[in-house]
Amino acid sequence: MSGIYIHIPFCKSKCLYCNFFSVTNMNNVEKYFDTLILEINQRRNELLSEKVKTIYIGGGTPSCVDIKYIEKICSELARHIDFNEIEEFTIECNPDDVNENYVPEIKRLGINRVSFGVQTFNDDVLKVMNRRHSSSQIRKAVELSKNAGIENISVDLIYGFPSIEWNNWKNDVEEFLKLDVDHLSSYCLQYEKGSRIWKNLESGKITPKSDEVCNEEYDYLTARMRESGYEHYEISNFARNGKYSQHNSAYWFGIKYFGYGAAAHSYDGESRYWNSSSLAGYFAQFKKQKFESEAEKLSDKDKFNEFIMLGLRTMWGVDENKLSLFPERFVKNFIREVEVKIKFGEIVKKNNSFVIPEDKMIISDKIISDLFVD
Ligand SMILES: C[S@@+](CC[C@H](N)C(=O)[O-])C[C@H]1O[C@@H](n2cnc3c(N)ncnc32)[C@H](O)[C@@H]1O
Ligand code: SF4
Repeated sequence: MSGIYIHIPFCKSKCLYCNFFSVTNMNNVEKYFDTLILEINQRRNELLSEKVKTIYIGGGTPSCVDIKYIEKICSELARHIDFNEIEEFTIECNPDDVNENYVPEIKRLGINRVSFGVQTFNDDVLKVMNRRHSSSQIRKAVELSKNAGIENISVDLIYGFPSIEWNNWKNDVEEFLKLDVDHLSSYCLQYEKGSRIWKNLESGKITPKSDEVCNEEYDYLTARMRESGYEHYEISNFARNGKYSQHNSAYWFGIKYFGYGAAAHSYDGESRYWNSSSLAGYFAQFKKQKFESEAEKLSDKDKFNEFIMLGLRTMWGVDENKLSLFPERFVKNFIREVEVKIKFGEIVKKNNSFVIPEDKMIISDKIISDLFVD
């Protein structure tokens, strides 16, 4: 079982906070998709005996390129994988790209899940963020998707953003709930080096929110989501009606994934490898007939630490029965440390799994790193 990720590194404009790999110059779109086709074809052997269950087209902004390019990618993939096996096929969309024609088109390609980058419902803050959509466009895009029969819809919101006052954050959560969709991903603003907001922070133009305020916003979100029937199934993710992101869950469970496109990462169960994160580098990489990439083979210790980290980020936790897959000295160390955490209420044991309780999720990074083996 495995998942496929396709990176589309184009955006119509760059948001204040974002440092994901994307360019605003669209001159290379044609060449990029030709290279993607070359890449999928050159790497076809990796998919030979794989049961691919999920496809995720992310970015950048996949919805800002002509649908004919997405169609080309689907046709190429269909030569190497069985589309009948695909359970979840997601595309990331910016609300302003979605219109009456767009949703039926993506549906025709087999896409059954849309993830909308909403960030906030406050029109003034959307402008500060340099987003291109308004709050009314968010509601319209969701409605169009539902009307076209897309039942699995996710929304991204950012909390801890300096211009979002307490009441605005409450309003963002309430407006999300009114959308009546099954999935939310909500991330605390990260000041990524290279983003414009990072430069503003460095030059003292903005004052970041304190950790206490960010934690209060997170606590408010988790409480309202729980009251409203959503499961907090991963630190930053909430789902209703069992609509967990199957694609991301595969990352959290250490399942194989194959990433195509500039800056995309792959994991074949033993090694992680990744493509060049510049367009020129990516084009050069696939000019040769033989696939080569930078790679890192995971040691037993890396695999163990990753298993602990990924499990503890989720409500399913670390399955005790799976610990025997790892060297005994790692397991002994883990059990010794986890017992201390249990005493302090930072870990609880549920059935056969070690889990971080929801009220301690906010300090999960610290809890998890304490449990790593060195
Ligand atoms: C890479 S973006 C792609 C989605 C799409 N292009 C959009 O913006 O609507 C995925 C999500 O990452 C989140 N994100 C990006 N930069 C972030 C940052 N610096 N801090 C927190 N969240 C961020 C946003 O919520 C965004 O929707
Ligand atoms: S948040 Fe989305 S639209 Fe904005 S720059 Fe990043 S990838 Fe592009």
